[in-house]
Amino acid sequence: MIYVLNQKSNMTLSLQEQYLKEIRKYPQSENLVYAPSFCYLPLYQGLPLASQDISMYQMGAYTGEISSKSLKSLGVSYAIIGHSERRGYFKEDETILCEKLKRAFEEGITPILCIGESEEAYKNKKTQEVLKEELSIQRFFPQEMWKKVILAYEPIWAIGTGKSIQKEKLETLLSWIKEETDCSILYGGSVNLETISSFKNLKNLDGFLIGGMSLDVEKVKKLLDMNKSQ
Ligand code: PGA
Repeated sequence: MIYVLNQKSNMTLSLQEQYLKEIRKYPQSENLVYAPSFCYLPLYQGLPLASQDISMYQMGAYTGEISSKSLKSLGVSYAIIGHSERRGYFKEDETILCEKLKRAFEEGITPILCIGESEEAYKNKKTQEVLKEELSIQRFFPQEMWKKVILAYEPIWAIGTGKSIQKEKLETLLSWIKEETDCSILYGGSVNLETISSFKNLKNLDGFLIGGMSLDVEKVKKLLDMNKSQ
């Protein structure tokens, strides 16, 4: 199981320092990966790290961008790519995501590619159609490379809403995704300690992408405890 803690664009420097002071008292697990804002990455030296995004460009004259090479030099091992917030607010399409995946691979950073359907698609039973379309990006990569991608299935209607997919539905979808592509799969969308306990033994589930809960240091400590006793 891998747990990726996506802090999104949250926390000030002083809050980060308090958070890390607590976290660092605890024995860490290589399965618990922190994804703070880019600017706080250096504070997390020595802890497993993911970036929340990655530049589609190589290092160079691209003002404001954070290159894969810079991320690698900060100890980042994973990059979240194509989060629904990036696809939605920043209009990241397949062409952009393809470049971002390539930049990650170039530096040996494992991409965590997010996929997921909107509420409308979900209500109209179009989930598989949307996922199939999003997964078609794999055609640009050789099989050997593509299977290193970690997919994060996050129904958009479940992100930050407190809603969650039914366990049986998730189980069915996970096995369908596995048939479509041979990647590890995380689940995300309002994940809390209860959903983790309930879903974590599902066949074909390899972990969770966690947003809101990752800001709660007490819950992160519980997650570290749970992970230790596995
Ligand atoms: P959430 O966010 O857990 O706050 O719903 C998950 C995500 O967006 O990755």
